[in-house]
Amino acid sequence: MTALEGDRKRLVEAATAARLNARAPYSGFLVGAALEAEDGRIFGGCNVESASYGLTICGERTAVFKAISEGARRFRRVAVVTGADTPTAPCGACRQVLWDQCRDIEVIMATTGGTVTILRLAELLPHAFEFGGPE
Ligand code: THU
Repeated sequence: MTALEGDRKRLVEAATAARLNARAPYSGFLVGAALEAEDGRIFGGCNVESASYGLTICGERTAVFKAISEGARRFRRVAVVTGADTPTAPCGACRQVLWDQCRDIEVIMATTGGTVTILRLAELLPHAFEFGGPE
């Protein structure tokens, strides 16, 4: 198990806290995310489910859109926390949106039980689609 320290530990704590705000009445699967900007700001996010299931937004994309809408443009890492037995990797849609806005950041995947996996986004999304990019 990876022992987390400093900024990484702080980011996982933020994602763990954001997870408690999740609105997941249909799946019962609570997801918390936290995105760390280069200026040190942390943007939390959680999944918010819709009665029209396809309108659901994942925790990771909530965090990205919050950060972008607050003016952040450069990022260091993202943390994703779930209550699953093993760390949960971002879904394909979230990988693309993370790549679009953050490029090759570190992705910390953690469980509430303390199991952690860390990968680069390029490892999770090799040969990413690009059409323009962040200014
Ligand atoms: N979910 C996320 O929040 N992030 C992911 O990367 C995958 C899935 C959410 C969507 C839905 O609310 C629940 O998990 C079950 O799919």
